[in-house]
Amino acid sequence: MPDPNPAALDFLLTRRSRPAKTLGLPVPDRDALVPLLTAALRSPDHGKLEPWRLIVLERPALVRLAEMVPTCPAAAGRPPEELAKQVSQYAMAHLAVAVVAVPRPSGKIPQIEQTLSAGAVCLQLLNAALAAGWGANWLSGWASHDREFVTLGLGLAPEEWVAGLVHIGTETAAPPERPRPDLDVAVSWMAT
Ligand SMILES: Cc1cc2nc3c(=O)[nH]c(=O)nc-3n(C[C@H](O)[C@H](O)[C@H](O)COP(=O)(O)O)c2cc1C
Repeated sequence: MPDPNPAALDFLLTRRSRPAKTLGLPVPDRDALVPLLTAALRSPDHGKLEPWRLIVLERPALVRLAEMVPTCPAAAGRPPEELAKQVSQYAMAHLAVAVVAVPRPSGKIPQIEQTLSAGAVCLQLLNAALAAGWGANWLSGWASHDREFVTLGLGLAPEEWVAGLVHIGTETAAPPERPRPDLDVAVSWMAT
């Protein structure tokens, strides 16, 4: 017989991200972050390649990144409101963790599976932060896909890329529930 963990199941059935722009202080300190980062790294990883790494972005780093956004190539030609929105993702944040995908050469584990593992790390970190009582939000944003921005701003190697920026802080406003998928549409049952 299964040995249920109703609290964990209830968490998964009710979990809800908190928009990054509504996250305030305090943010978890380094000691409080350790179990969340540990949980994130306890993610499914075919072949134990560890095709990811984490960069904790504290406030001064986020301010520095905000200042870099307008000068990165992906900013060119964007309307001012789009630029301002992308700057504010960094400028308003107090803490974010960059989940960096690190593709490992492998004759056995396809790159797509390594990518999926990086996504799993993002969700695991998001859920660990939410379960610990923090507000959290998995964002990307166009700057995070700009090669120059991630090279100069985050120190990424040419083969590395940002799988997600998980913002973590204190919830200041409860978001409305988000419409959730219709099981009848998303699920099919194959009995034979
Ligand atoms: C890879 C990825 C990137 C995302 N990037 C953004 C983003 O840049 N901006 C945004 O508003 N939401 C973004 N989202 C959506 C939010 O993280 C989240 O899915 C949404 O707020 C609902 O979250 P919940 O289902 O955890 O409540 C992204 C989601 C994923 C999976």
